[in-house]
Amino acid sequence: MSLRLGDIAPNFQAKTTAGDIDFYEFLGNGWGILFSHPADYTPVCTTELGKTALLQDEFAKRNVKVLAVSVDGLDKHVGWVKDINETQNVTVGFPIIADEDRNVATLYDMIHPNASETFTVRSLFVIGPDKKVKLMITYPASTGRNFYEVLRVVDSLQLTANYSVATPADWKEGEDVIVVPAVSTDDAIKKFPKGVKVVKPYLRYTPQPNK
Ligand code: BEZ
Repeated sequence: MSLRLGDIAPNFQAKTTAGDIDFYEFLGNGWGILFSHPADYTPVCTTELGKTALLQDEFAKRNVKVLAVSVDGLDKHVGWVKDINETQNVTVGFPIIADEDRNVATLYDMIHPNASETFTVRSLFVIGPDKKVKLMITYPASTGRNFYEVLRVVDSLQLTANYSVATPADWKEGEDVIVVPAVSTDDAIKKFPKGVKVVKPYLRYTPQPNK
């Protein structure tokens, strides 16, 4: 059965470019991103892994460990990483799983047979410190993902895990956030000393509480 938001992310052991790993041990008590791409030595995937490498410090700042996966083997991964480093001007510092037996792809439902019988689609999971799935996105092979958007969602997930707020459309770190409907306006005024702007009884904004 496919995974849904709030489900426990399945653990697994896998061969990676950084050696054998146990997923839960790799994650430790922090956040994680597990993302698949269709195949090594392909152009869009090269740019995606390059962009992820470029943003490594941003993920680390947020206590997020990144792990890539495809059904290609370790030898191919190692050779391809050299190409990514060279062409994208980065140093890939996160592991890539060699999922030749499709164990991870199957656990995370990353093969969508009507898109491709053999290759993983572009799936991405954000996993919280409680090992639960917080975000799932699925893109086709033809469309590279926006990794700034992934960082933006991580910011929202980490904020809303700690405060009774939600983030509006296109929100970015530092902008006003929305008071969740479960909190009354009277309580919101007490909880959010920076102020509450009531646009409608159900639409209330407050400055980002942890800034
Ligand atoms: C790519 O990464 O460029 C790609 C992979 C599979 C199909 C189409 C494009």
